Amino acid sequence: MKPEPASLRELYDNHPLTEASILERVRKEGKDLNALTEEDLCRDPQGGITDQNHIGGADAVRRLAAEAEVTGSSVVLDIGCGLGGPARVLADKSGCHVVGIDLTLSRLAAAIRLTRKISMKGRASFAAGDARHLPLLEGRIDVIWGQSAWLHIPEKKRLLEECWRVLCPGGMIAMEDTFLGDAPGGGAADQVDRLSRIWMAHLISLRGWTDLISRSGFEVTSTADLTPLLSRSATRMLRVLGGTDWPDEKEAWVIADRLAANGRIVYSRVLARKREKGGQAPLSS
Ligand SMILES: C[S@@+](CC[C@H](N)C(=O)[O-])C[C@H]1O[C@@H](n2cnc3c(N)ncnc32)[C@H](O)[C@@H]1O
Repeated sequence: MKPEPASLRELYDNHPLTEASILERVRKEGKDLNALTEEDLCRDPQGGITDQNHIGGADAVRRLAAEAEVTGSSVVLDIGCGLGGPARVLADKSGCHVVGIDLTLSRLAAAIRLTRKISMKGRASFAAGDARHLPLLEGRIDVIWGQSAWLHIPEKKRLLEECWRVLCPGGMIAMEDTFLGDAPGGGAADQVDRLSRIWMAHLISLRGWTDLISRSGFEVTSTADLTPLLSRSATRMLRVLGGTDWPDEKEAWVIADRLAANGRIVYSRVLARKREKGGQAPLSS
């Protein structure tokens, strides 16, 4: 059995979804690896070996972009960009500029290589960085993006302070992630703990998250429950991981599916706008 990863970087350094597995899947489809498009990378007709390491895949990127009103002139920051799939879909479909940041250097290097394989015309770029100390100047970003990434960040207040700092006035947060659900009863706490351990997640309730956003100088403009996508993702991931040696990943998806069915976890979309005049900087306590 594989030892448990000691750090988040180690978790993603050894993640089953890799640049090599994506390119191998595309090659098996008979595509020319020297003439790839983002559609080749983000769509797997057989299942889930794509550059989209989040729940909902490329369709979720498009829907979130529409909700956040991303246009060709938007500058988007994808925090926890992973292999860069959402950044490429965004830039490809809307013509916007996206900067992806991630603290796992192996994912970032793969994101850069995959982006070089397709024609992005410089609209998707990547940099090493930690969400808690964004390597960016104040007020330059129109939309801050996060898909299935921010659950890893323990210091959520600090993350929101950084979002507030780098967003322009009226800028948007557009994110989707796993949260604790409101299902009554304290059962299944051990299962939530086990899932959090495998995923290296720091889960809070959706209400807790939207309250924190509201207290951090933003107006929550919409939320949507996407939990059915989590269940579909679990089915797909269990198929993809089927014959592989990833017992913890498989266990996590079994647990996640069960917890979602019982309302103990939810997968939700949250959009929030930085308050303009009369708004306030994040609270210091
Ligand atoms: C599940 S992957 C999602 C990748 C990408 N958002 C996608 O949808 O394909 C989560 C990513 O978040 C990154 N991450 C976690 N915590 C981070 C932090 N504090 N700062 C920057 N990146 C972080 C991890 O390194 C990992 O690549």
